[in-house]
Amino acid sequence: MLAAMMATLSLAQDGKKIAAGERIYNNYCSTCHGDDLVSTGQTFDLRRLRADERPRFENSVINGKGQMPPWKGTFNNEEMDLLWQYIRANANNK
Ligand code: HEC
Repeated sequence: MLAAMMATLSLAQDGKKIAAGERIYNNYCSTCHGDDLVSTGQTFDLRRLRADERPRFENSVINGKGQMPPWKGTFNNEEMDLLWQYIRANANNK
């Protein structure tokens, strides 16, 4: 009973995190990475990141890569987490 309640609660929180991550994405990333994470082919399609590639994600975002500027100092840990949750929720390979 308690476990079921906790699971429901945590799902609702996941939904909020994903929505918050989407807002950050729309503000900072979608111009290059595409609406709803769908890349037009000019940039890396973020849906390709696998579950175990969070270190790669954080490293590329913080330090920049190729044509992408570094975002160091732009996001705190919580915001990085929200971005990651949003990307994971839409990943090709969940
Ligand atoms: C000015 C355009 C631009 C913006 C804005 C931008 N990116 Fe990128 N991003 C790129 C390009 C171009 C690449 C491909 C870099 C390469 O591999 O040469 C890339 C690659 C990446 C990669 C993959 C790098 C890898 O490991 O191969 C990640 C992760 C990423 N971007 C995340 C983000 C996130 C999160 C945001 C929003 C905070 C963002 N980007 C905003 C242009 C942008």
